[in-house]
Amino acid sequence: MRVFVTGGAGFIGSHTLVQLLRTNADIMVFDNYSNSSPEALKRVKRLAQSDFSIVEGDMCDPRALASAMQGFKPDAVIHFAGLKAVGESAEKPLDYYRTNIGGSITLLDAMDKVGCKRIVFSSSATVYDPNKPFPFTEDTALCAASTYGRTKQFIEEIIRDWSAATPGSSAAILRYFNPVGAHASGDIGEDPVGIPNNLLPYISRVAHGSLQELQVFGNEYATADGTGARDYIHVEDLASAHIAALEHITSMTGCDTFNIGTGTATTVLEMLRAFEKVTGKPIPYRIVGARAGDVSTTVANVSKAERVLGWKAKYDIDAMCRSIWNWQTRNPRGYEPRG
Ligand code: WQD
Repeated sequence: MRVFVTGGAGFIGSHTLVQLLRTNADIMVFDNYSNSSPEALKRVKRLAQSDFSIVEGDMCDPRALASAMQGFKPDAVIHFAGLKAVGESAEKPLDYYRTNIGGSITLLDAMDKVGCKRIVFSSSATVYDPNKPFPFTEDTALCAASTYGRTKQFIEEIIRDWSAATPGSSAAILRYFNPVGAHASGDIGEDPVGIPNNLLPYISRVAHGSLQELQVFGNEYATADGTGARDYIHVEDLASAHIAALEHITSMTGCDTFNIGTGTATTVLEMLRAFEKVTGKPIPYRIVGARAGDVSTTVANVSKAERVLGWKAKYDIDAMCRSIWNWQTRNPRGYEPRG
C-alpha cells in the first residue's frame, strides 16, 4: 500500500512510521519540521532498515502538497501534521485555525485531485465536553474547551462531510489523550522545544537534572490523591492503533471514530511515584495552584477500538516511564542540532 504521512517527523508520526515500514508499505512523508527534526526520520530509516521518500513542505502550501501528492499517488493518507499546544492556541488562534483546519482542507483537496479516498486522522480527546461524565465514549458530546481542541473538532466534521460527499471513501478518526514514552531502542522519542508543557517530558528532565523540581498543578481535584488524572497511552500503542485503523479503512466505506487509550486514569503523583520507582531517581516537587484550563480527570471508554479494530493497549505506566527514561538518558539534548 502507498501511504502519504503528513507530520511523519513528529513524536507520534515517527513511531507510527517504524511500525508502518514493517508492513512493507511504500511511504512518503510530508513535513515542514516546524515542531520536529529531520534527524528523527534518519533514525526511523535506520531502525526500520528501510527507506521512504520525504518532502519538506507546508500543509498550507496547496502547490507543494498537490505536487507531492501527484508525484506519489497514495492509496491512503495518515494525517498527523498540525499545531498542538493548548496554551499557545489561545494566544495564536488564527495560526491554529489556518494551519490545522486550512491545512486539512488543502490536504483533502489534494487527495481529491489524485483520487485518494482513504484517510486516518489523528484527532484528540480534547474534542470532548470536559463536563460530561467519563469515561468518554465515542458518542459523548463534543465541546472542545480550547482553540486547539476546536480545530480538531472542526476537522473531524470536515472529514465526515468530505467522506459523505466522496463515494467509496473511508475515514478513521482516532481520539486519544496523553501520548507518552518512546521507542524501545531509545533512538526516537518526544523532543519538545524549550521547557516542556506536558507532564512526562518535564518529570524526565527533572530526573535528569536539567530542571530543578516539578510543579504539581493543584491537589484539590476529586481524584485519588487530589492531583489531575489522565489516560496516558504509550506512543508505541498509539502507533499500532494507527496501523490497525489503516487496515480497517481498506475494508470499509464511510467514517468511523475510535477512542484510543488504556481506559485507566493515572494521577500526577501516581505517575511521579512510578517514574521514581522505575528510574531510582527522586523527583522533587512542589504543589502549586491549578493550571488554567486544566480539568480534573480525562479517561476513555476504549471498548470500541478493541471490538472493531481488534486493538488494545499493551503497555502499562511502568513501561511508559522506563521507555521515556531510556530515551532521555541516551539523548539528553533530544535530536539536536534541530532542523
Ligand atoms: C497532564 C497532567 C496537569 C505539567 C495535553 C494537551 C493536549 C493533549 C493531551 C493532544 C495535568 C499535570 C502537567 C506540569 C503538572 N494532546 N501537570 N505539572 O494538559 O492533560 O493534555 O496532552 O491532543 O494537547 O492539553 O497534558 O501533560 O500538560 O498534563 O502537574 O508541569 O499533569 O495539571 O493534570 P494535558 P499535560
